[in-house]
Amino acid sequence: MSDNQLANKSQAWSALFSEPMSDLVKRYTASVGFDQRLWRADIAGSLAHAEMLAAQGILNAEDHAAIQRGLGEIAAEIEAGQFEWKLDLEDVHLNIEARLTERVGIAGKRLHTGRSRNDQVATDVRLWLRGEIDEISGLLKALQTVMVEKASEHADVILPGFTHLQVAQPVSFGHHLLAYVEMFARDAERMGDTRKRVNRLPLGAAALAGTSYPLDRERVAKTLGMEGVCQNSLDAVSDRDFAIEFSSAATLVMLHISRLSEELILWMSQNFGFIALPDAFCTGSSIMPQKKNPDVPELARGKTGRVVGHLVGLVTLMKGQPLAYNKDNQEDKEPLFDTVDTLKDTLRIFADMLAGLTVKPEAMRAAALKGHATATDLADYLVKKGVAFRDAHEVVAHAVKTATAKGVDLAALSLDELKAFDARIEADVFEVLSLEGSLNARNVLGGTAPAQVRAQVARHRARLV
Ligand code: ARG
Repeated sequence: MSDNQLANKSQAWSALFSEPMSDLVKRYTASVGFDQRLWRADIAGSLAHAEMLAAQGILNAEDHAAIQRGLGEIAAEIEAGQFEWKLDLEDVHLNIEARLTERVGIAGKRLHTGRSRNDQVATDVRLWLRGEIDEISGLLKALQTVMVEKASEHADVILPGFTHLQVAQPVSFGHHLLAYVEMFARDAERMGDTRKRVNRLPLGAAALAGTSYPLDRERVAKTLGMEGVCQNSLDAVSDRDFAIEFSSAATLVMLHISRLSEELILWMSQNFGFIALPDAFCTGSSIMPQKKNPDVPELARGKTGRVVGHLVGLVTLMKGQPLAYNKDNQEDKEPLFDTVDTLKDTLRIFADMLAGLTVKPEAMRAAALKGHATATDLADYLVKKGVAFRDAHEVVAHAVKTATAKGVDLAALSLDELKAFDARIEADVFEVLSLEGSLNARNVLGGTAPAQVRAQVARHRARLV
């Protein structure tokens, strides 16, 4: 069979098959429609494999040169949008290999020596994912940087902190933002951990059992910048735990984004009025002219469901699969690709949106003055005067009840009124009952005192350079 015949024949693997595939089955089994995005990784993997074959004397220098040249030309073709992807050739791997043979002849047919698509695809996905993890880590860093700067600007802005969505204690808005920075910092750490296990080489496992050629797998790993070689061929071609691990790290990022989204949506509503988002991230209503809707955070909250769904999909895909490679694994790609796309877009858009966030300190302050937010401070004040905390808690509960009945905040009661609950209360109590007093009192590591917030800002800045 001529090289051209090989490239054009509809089934790339063998003469064993006498019946052609129906168009429906072809479409059903092909992955080229989506896995073509792995082309860079596929070519990088092939180049590294060919280089090692040549170094080991399995491929002669002439064939090696032809393969290098051919793959370079194919890369240029794909880049220029001139590559013709063929459904008949099933996937990215067979498409590129067939084109290589078309271009360089018999040398192209030698590339697959000691290799199977099973170890090839596992390698490609890992290489591709490694690059995406690096991009995502950069985006997480950029988002954190924006949030740290906003926190620095608003270290002294006070809003009510909530538990059960009830006013609990006043906190610094900067402190609130830094809570998310902590989450995103852990997310970045998780991405880094995941990367270590993604960055291992399956090539050389061949179909499932390893290969009879004297391959130098360590050499290929080194060429590809991988941290190690998968040590068991059956495991190397079959497990997708690295994809699941990434997907779960991505899910956590989106969970954090969804929590932040929920808060932005609440804060932007008329009932809170704590913030405004830039117009470019909101939409109007086709019927209600007064509306400005926080579409971006709402969509991010919604898209979190989709990323969670992909995680569940991948976990379910892997469950119960016997060793070694099964075609089921072709289904790992679309969820993984969509997870990466969704995550990257979301991180980019959040960094831009938060950079343009407008804060309304007066509204935050008014809300913080509403729910007896400094009640704990009064209890702590009494403790410092010798009252046992449980008793102090009880005294303050009575005071809150009275203030509520009067329709005022605890801090608005007069000294005489307060003294009626405990004679040890004196004029200095009002310092404690003020929002600023409450914040400043929490000058403990990790606390909300503006001084602590500024110290955290400095720590994050140093970490994020
Ligand atoms: N397109 C396949 C995938 O994504 C490549 C591996 C195919 N291997 C095989 N033995 N059919 O998993």
